[in-house]
Amino acid sequence: MSRTGKTKKLLVKTYGCQMNEYDSERLQELMGEIGFDDTGDMEKADVILLNTCHIREKAAEKVYSELGRIRQARNRRLQGGNDTTIVVAGCVAQAEGREILSRAPQVNIVIGPQSYHRLPEYVFSAEQHKQRIVDTDFPPDAKFAHLPDRKGEHFERRLTAFLTVQEGCDKFCTFCVVPYTRGGEYSRPVKEIVKEARQLVAGGVREITLLGQNVNAYHGLDKKGRTTGLARLLQKLARIDGLERLRYTTSHPGDMNEDLIAAHRDIDILMPYLHLPFQSGADRILKAMNRNHDAACYIDKIAKIREARPDIAISTDIIVGFPGETDKDFQATMDLVHKVEFAQAYSFRYSPRPGTTAAAMDNQIEEEVARERLGILQDLLKEQQLAFNRSLIGRELPVLLEKQGRIEGQLAGRSPYLQPVHVPAPDDLLGQIVKLKITDASKNSLTGRLANVKSEILA
Ligand code: 5AD
Ligand code: SF4
Repeated sequence: MSRTGKTKKLLVKTYGCQMNEYDSERLQELMGEIGFDDTGDMEKADVILLNTCHIREKAAEKVYSELGRIRQARNRRLQGGNDTTIVVAGCVAQAEGREILSRAPQVNIVIGPQSYHRLPEYVFSAEQHKQRIVDTDFPPDAKFAHLPDRKGEHFERRLTAFLTVQEGCDKFCTFCVVPYTRGGEYSRPVKEIVKEARQLVAGGVREITLLGQNVNAYHGLDKKGRTTGLARLLQKLARIDGLERLRYTTSHPGDMNEDLIAAHRDIDILMPYLHLPFQSGADRILKAMNRNHDAACYIDKIAKIREARPDIAISTDIIVGFPGETDKDFQATMDLVHKVEFAQAYSFRYSPRPGTTAAAMDNQIEEEVARERLGILQDLLKEQQLAFNRSLIGRELPVLLEKQGRIEGQLAGRSPYLQPVHVPAPDDLLGQIVKLKITDASKNSLTGRLANVKSEILA
């Protein structure tokens, strides 16, 4: 029940990265404490919150077109005598602040990621006093210090969860808005993280993905005030009874140190999958991007990681059409992809972001050229992804069965390499990690059958 004694409805729409997904879930928990139930229906929502992404221009534009649709839904609700409070959260809120209120007059609250703990009080003020509020303050640790403990139905019955351990970034890659929208790097203390992980596991979670914009730069303090790196944090978490899988994302090659590489060898519940963006294969462009690593250094790190954990699958992020990128530079990116062979990759056409150094460079690449390069790169990446998935046919893989599949009698889960896997299996296997023999593979998923069980029995 809310302060007015009536159960209210909240609709949260999330854009962008996994960090936003984590934040959205925490915001739902927080609003749940003051009586808001989740809804997927705009026409029923008393509060609509857009958790936004500013990383590329398209992502930000999507928010404004969604706000147009929300305005219409609000008008329809007003005719029935109900108002809707509209909240813009996330990186667009942080980057554009007050500007949003003038561009989208229907918005009531603009709130940056560091102020999320204040959302209930802002919603109350907006509803009761018709105030319009903008809070994009930057106290680095306030958000985590004030978010409630993780209890309640949002993660009960869930098997996998995100856990933010680090936020913000000090690296200032010249194309990237993150240091501006998420601020400087902040690592949560070890104790807080272990506590949250235990709460998740007690609620049934068996796989945790640690999140941070620069997660492998994690350097939180332990009980004794000593700085602790990601490798040590992973070791501590691996000791939690009932936790069966650990992952982390997203990383910078420069912070992929020896301890962390060794953790991939030593921690058996750390999944053999690493997302390590390289952005460009051309040293000239890497320099202009302020990445602080060259192509050879990236390839060397990958070799060391593969030596430590031979079955590891590598995924990455790549940008094409960065200012000044020549055909030769693009070829260097293609060469690096050929050398490393990725299991998965996200590739983007460079998008100038306001306020970043690269946006002011005078050698921007024509859209058509960048588009063509992206097409060529994506063809190669698709090929590699399919080849990787096909290489698993005939192998036995442990799969965490998370939910019912689309077809009756089928369950769906994830392999250690994060691909979705479908299998004919009885419902009582839900929530278990079972050995599956992989029988088929497409670019985006695998099909399996229960190992040691003849397929006819299940057919
Ligand atoms: N243009 C294109 N891609 C970008 N990314 C970040 N900023 C930009 C930009 N301005 C990509 C990078 C990063 C991923 C999350 O998004 O590849 O690793
Ligand atoms: Fe952005 Fe990642 Fe570079 Fe930080 S390290 S500035 S988050 S691309």
